[in-house]
Amino acid sequence: MKYSIAVIPGDGIGPEVTNQAKKALDAVAEIYDHVFLYKEAQMGACAIDATGNPLPEETIEICKKADAILFGAIGDPKYNDPSLKIRPEQGLLNLRQELDLFCNINPVRAYDQLIKNSPLRREIIKGTDIVIFREITGGIYFGKKEVSKDGKSAFDVCSYTVAQISRITHLAFKAAQSRKNKVTLIDKSNVLETSRLWRKTVTEIAKQYKDVELEHLYADNAAMKLILNPKKFDVILTENFIGDIISDEASVISGSIGLLASSSIGNENALFAPVHGTFPEAKGKDIANPLASILSAAMMLEHLGLHEEANAIERAVEKSLDLNITTEDIKGKNKYAAPTSKVGDFIADYILNQQDSNLNFKNIHMGQSTII
Ligand code: IPM
Ligand code: MN
Repeated sequence: MKYSIAVIPGDGIGPEVTNQAKKALDAVAEIYDHVFLYKEAQMGACAIDATGNPLPEETIEICKKADAILFGAIGDPKYNDPSLKIRPEQGLLNLRQELDLFCNINPVRAYDQLIKNSPLRREIIKGTDIVIFREITGGIYFGKKEVSKDGKSAFDVCSYTVAQISRITHLAFKAAQSRKNKVTLIDKSNVLETSRLWRKTVTEIAKQYKDVELEHLYADNAAMKLILNPKKFDVILTENFIGDIISDEASVISGSIGLLASSSIGNENALFAPVHGTFPEAKGKDIANPLASILSAAMMLEHLGLHEEANAIERAVEKSLDLNITTEDIKGKNKYAAPTSKVGDFIADYILNQQDSNLNFKNIHMGQSTII
């Protein structure tokens, strides 16, 4: 089959990790006889530099026409000045709105091979398998915001509608039905009106899913429970801002944020991206972990209905972990870390050759040449 993929490498390490995901996709295309037609588009700091706009019209058009969007990362320290009116992150936020990508799905599982890397104890995290459903087109991110003329006060309005809450709630409950039949709604309904609307709406919808248990947690308490006992969670459902924080916190459980992939789904379009950011210190150094981007490509294939193909990528990633062909951040006690590009080469090579992989593992470990 032929698929058109919009590729938005973005900023920082975005381009280098996205390149590794493309290598994995190209290997899949070869083995399973598909064609992935990439159409590259700009967004973020690089787009501001080139066009003055963090989300050029052309990018929106390319994304709308594509079967799926593969995205890297966004942001640049040179745009951190709070007085700036145009910021790279607006590109991603506007794209979420333009394409109505309301549902951010963020799976978190503890890879056995990486448990040693987590600052949390093995017995706490082993066996963790959570998926976070985060609403990303509403809430405080998108409400009216203003700074007073004298610059001495500011506000951001948080608002949600029942319709916005309902559509993601159904997706979360359906997901729970094919998992461990539990949804935890995380809110701050002891304080916030929007949270009370979430609680009321979700409780009502839950009645349609009698086989799914609904649990309520306040965000502060949930943040604590998530690292005290992550195994208690199955599907987490939450609003935009709380979800942003909870997702990063949950990444600690996996052993590295460098492994977390996410999808942002709308009714017409879907975007796949690593959870990690731009890691500016690593930009261009060939040291960033490409696995989150590669696993995002696997999620994309899953979304396109290419299950076997997605599985081939996941198996290659597992293999790279088994063999310690990993970047600096997760190399553990290994003496040598593999460069970003070599991890990508290995994944692609393993997909192409499977058991007959012609990689010279020994050389990889010695940090020398890689593929022979
Ligand atoms: C994320 C990111 C974004 C967010 C930023 C880059 C705007 O942190 O996807 O979680 O806050 O949603
Ligand atoms: Mn975030």
